[in-house]
Amino acid sequence: MSQLGICVIGAGDLGTTHAQNWLKVPDVKLISVADPIEERAKAACEKFGFENWYPDHRQALEQPGIHAVSVAVPEYVHRECSEAAMRKGYNVICEKPISLTIEDAEAMIATRDRTGVKLTFGFCKRFMEQVHTVRDLVQGGRIGRPCVYRFVAGWERRPKMWIMDKRYGGGPIIDFCCHYFDQWGIIFGAKPVRVMAAGMTFSEGAEELPDILPELDTANFTVEYDTGDIGMISITWGLPRGVQTAGFEDLIGPDGAIQVSGAKKVTLKTKDGEEAFEDLDADMHAKQLNAFAESIREGKPVPAGAEDALLALKVSHAVLESVRTGKAVSL
Ligand SMILES: NC(=O)c1ccc[n+]([C@@H]2O[C@H](COP(=O)([O-])OP(=O)(O)OC[C@H]3O[C@@H](n4cnc5c(N)ncnc54)[C@H](O)[C@@H]3O)[C@@H](O)[C@H]2O)c1
Repeated sequence: MSQLGICVIGAGDLGTTHAQNWLKVPDVKLISVADPIEERAKAACEKFGFENWYPDHRQALEQPGIHAVSVAVPEYVHRECSEAAMRKGYNVICEKPISLTIEDAEAMIATRDRTGVKLTFGFCKRFMEQVHTVRDLVQGGRIGRPCVYRFVAGWERRPKMWIMDKRYGGGPIIDFCCHYFDQWGIIFGAKPVRVMAAGMTFSEGAEELPDILPELDTANFTVEYDTGDIGMISITWGLPRGVQTAGFEDLIGPDGAIQVSGAKKVTLKTKDGEEAFEDLDADMHAKQLNAFAESIREGKPVPAGAEDALLALKVSHAVLESVRTGKAVSL
């Protein structure tokens, strides 16, 4: 194919991010965009120069000239939209996480295998220089092994309410922590083996969240890896509006520590002093789409495969199960 024809399903925050970044990939043509909120689909069509917009993803997939589809809709429709695209023979990049349920994820993988198309997921942090820097420091033995990656965050109830709902977005453990489950595997070069968690739902009955069935929004947990390394998160999305804690992100090991600051800085701290890595490239979406385009054009492996995305979802479900049962869950 000379030009890669693109359809984008979902014209919210990530759909428009995909559209904008597809324009940075060589030899790409924006064909169609869909969103049931018609003004979003129309606005994206005009702003990014798609040939046409539609309120329904099935109509958008009918337009001729499509080779690849970005699926950027809430989790509960990842399967429906991705499978509709794959059944038409189109390659798919679906936003993370793969889906809400293991059943949906396995069905998507089966559809990929039946149709023979490429299927990848929006684990965009794989393209951040910061993640590569931390990986190289850890795997280079600079802080010793095994080590612990710690992430602590306290955020207000999410203004985008569907994301907190167990029917639509899955709360922070499914929607957000999957980024860490994915990147820990890369940084440690390891597989998760066991999860221990405790948590609660601060938002139960919160007046800011009418008509929402909140998924667990507050959890403290560890994920143990087969290398002995540990990922640890303490997170809440359940604070009242306007309340936020400072949080922190670092790694600690027997020979030192790594401070992770924002998206562009990492500081190595050892007995010999500090070494800062600054102005790291955090422009990840265009690189991700470019890698996906290359995988289609050159027959290379996709950037983040469905099996990795399924594994991240299994860790999320292990956290929820450990909270429910009060027991450690093996993977
Ligand atoms: N990679 C990342 O770092 C990152 C960051 C934020 C969100 N996300 C993911 O992106 C996805 C979308 O999140 P968002 O923040 O863009 O949400 P959003 O609410 O801003 O946008 C979602 C859009 O999808 C539309 N939609 C719903 N069903 C649809 C359908 N069947 N066909 C077409 N459009 C449909 C909605 O009307 C809405 O406009 C989620 O899976 C989320 O987890 C990824």
